[in-house]
Amino acid sequence: MGYLARISYLVRTQITRLLRNAHATYVDLRLFAAGKADPRLPPMRLRFVGSGDFVEIGCEMLAVLVTYGNLPRHARILEIGCGVGRVALPLTTYLGADATYDGFDVVRKAVAWCRKRITNEHPNFRFHHVTVRNTLYRFTGTSAATFRFPFPDHSFDFVFAVSLFTHLTLQEVKNYLLESHRVLSSDGHFLATFFLLNSGSNRLLPSNDRDFRFPFIDGPMRFASDKNRAVATAIDEGVLRGLIQDAGFGIERVVHGKWAGNASSLTFQDVVVCRKRPHTP
Ligand SMILES: C[S@@+](CC[C@H](N)C(=O)[O-])C[C@H]1O[C@@H](n2cnc3c(N)ncnc32)[C@H](O)[C@@H]1O
Repeated sequence: MGYLARISYLVRTQITRLLRNAHATYVDLRLFAAGKADPRLPPMRLRFVGSGDFVEIGCEMLAVLVTYGNLPRHARILEIGCGVGRVALPLTTYLGADATYDGFDVVRKAVAWCRKRITNEHPNFRFHHVTVRNTLYRFTGTSAATFRFPFPDHSFDFVFAVSLFTHLTLQEVKNYLLESHRVLSSDGHFLATFFLLNSGSNRLLPSNDRDFRFPFIDGPMRFASDKNRAVATAIDEGVLRGLIQDAGFGIERVVHGKWAGNASSLTFQDVVVCRKRPHTP
């Protein structure tokens, strides 16, 4: 994209964002005035993490973590791209008091809300703001292709990411897989959601909702937008399997999602569950 086209795209997205925020703030005010605002949930203006019912999707993702990933109740958990606590909130009722949860995200306001509303009541839940660039969520910061997660090696037993890798480019996916592997203890588990491209999902692409047709192709990845690749990304399943193995994981389970025509899946995106392989010198 040329320089002027890029500026014009940025201006238009900022205006759209401002209008959306203004509308969400108006809804928040109306809910507040009617005494219907629930302080346990983030205000509408902070629910930027996707469409659908905030609470229902959080519970759905807890079911995915437990059913597909056997999420332990007593462990050290890391969530990459925790947003505004959609999954952390239901986790507060699932994890034992001796478990720890750490989540990090690039959106400062979301992290601040989580600290104020979740950490205050559940001190074993900690939230971290990171200044990493993502053209959908944060325009400045370190590249996600080289970012080092702010935790020492072997800090966690279970690392997960919901709807995060679906906003990353190929080099960013590679780095986040390697970093997830680094911070996991030996034998630790990794669960993440993706849009996986395979013969089945490729066949369905033309009949999908507009947002999930991924018309722009670059190597093993497809993109929903050519102006801003972070809007939504899909990746060739065979290539991703290779990257996961190269990062040092063994794949335990792949559950194709509803988007790929699997009506019995618990969720829309595809879910991949892996285990850290013992280090071989
Ligand atoms: C679709 S939202 C999902 C949020 C959360 N996982 C959930 O399910 O509610 C994607 C999240 O990833 C965060 N994000 C995007 N790029 C990131 C990066 N490179 N590192 C960490 N978080 C990132 C965004 O700020 C956003 O909160």
